[in-house]
Amino acid sequence: MKLNITLSLAFLSSITLASIPPGMEDALTTSNVPAEYLEYVYLLGGFPTIQSRSDPRVSYGVYVPKDHYNEVSNSTQGKLPLLVNIHGTSRRMTALQVADQLPKFADEIGCAVLAPLFPAGVKGPNDLSSFKTLHTASLRSDLALLDILDEVAYRWPGVDTTQIYLSGFSGGGQFVHRFLYLHPDRVAAASIGAPGRVTYPDPSKPWPQGISDVGEIFDTTVNMTNLNEVSLQFVVGEKDTEIHGSSEFWEWLEEVMGSADDLPPMNASRLDTVKKLRDTWTAAGVDSLLNIVPGVAHDSEDPAVRQALWEFLGDQMNTH
Ligand SMILES: *[C@@H]1O[C@H](CO)[C@@H](O)[C@H](O)[C@H]1NC(C)=O
Ligand SMILES: *[C@@H]1O[C@H](CO)[C@@H](O)[C@H](O)[C@H]1NC(C)=O
Ligand SMILES: *[C@@H]1O[C@H](CO)[C@@H](O)[C@H](O)[C@H]1NC(C)=O
Repeated sequence: MKLNITLSLAFLSSITLASIPPGMEDALTTSNVPAEYLEYVYLLGGFPTIQSRSDPRVSYGVYVPKDHYNEVSNSTQGKLPLLVNIHGTSRRMTALQVADQLPKFADEIGCAVLAPLFPAGVKGPNDLSSFKTLHTASLRSDLALLDILDEVAYRWPGVDTTQIYLSGFSGGGQFVHRFLYLHPDRVAAASIGAPGRVTYPDPSKPWPQGISDVGEIFDTTVNMTNLNEVSLQFVVGEKDTEIHGSSEFWEWLEEVMGSADDLPPMNASRLDTVKKLRDTWTAAGVDSLLNIVPGVAHDSEDPAVRQALWEFLGDQMNTH
């Protein structure tokens, strides 16, 4: 009897140890903080932007609805779905902070929200975009997000991080569609908003234009059949028809930046790029919706654009 107890305790503690993400050993979580104190330690409502334990260059903010979480925080059933919102080049986190946007959406739908903040300047003083292509010599933004999901799952065991609801607009849309190529199994549904420069499922071109060297760079393969398991929506403004910068601008940029930016110059409007990317995915057997928002240009703050991005994900949460 005694031996049995010792064995099972050892077994339990080995499971527990294995599931603590690096650096989170002392973390306050919803399972070690008394329910009546959860709000005082910010585990309910808006959790301040905090650095990831696995890479302090990357940080993230979290919003957890007060009402919904209380009932489910210690249960394994009925976990809250997690909406992950990826910022664009400007890295505005306003959506998470302004009371009437993502928090309101989260309260209404009954989901938690995670907003990662990826660093600029990783590859040099002019690097604003490396997070969009997922890799530099020192940072994999896709793996950084997976590590953050582990931290969130540990701190909020009532939040389901196994399959996320992923949205991003502009530079965020670039991140989202590339993340899908590599990790479709971690995404239940995704809204891809108006990416300007994209990766086609083209096996003859190197990343980030195509996917010929995904094995070497990311140690994985792209399987479009698995991508088709994800509920997908493309969103773009009807008037998102201007090319960012003139052709002279892109020539000048290439001269001064050289290979600092491994994305090719933008030579098509985002509306055309989104349609073309969707067509290549459709041809590869991947179904998706296309939502062209009437009257809107390239504006991530536009309420109709935001509604289009998040409403689709909210609907998907209700049907999963
Ligand atoms: C979750 O469980 C812990 C430990 O049993 C307990 O202290 C806490 O109050 C519970 N939280 C909720 C929200 O029920
Ligand atoms: C892609 O994934 C599907 C389903 O998981 C599998 O049946 C298929 O063999 C995979 N294709 C390749 C080329 O690995
Ligand atoms: C736009 O740029 C891409 C990538 O460099 C290239 O494959 C494509 O042919 C270009 N399209 C036009 C219309 O110049």
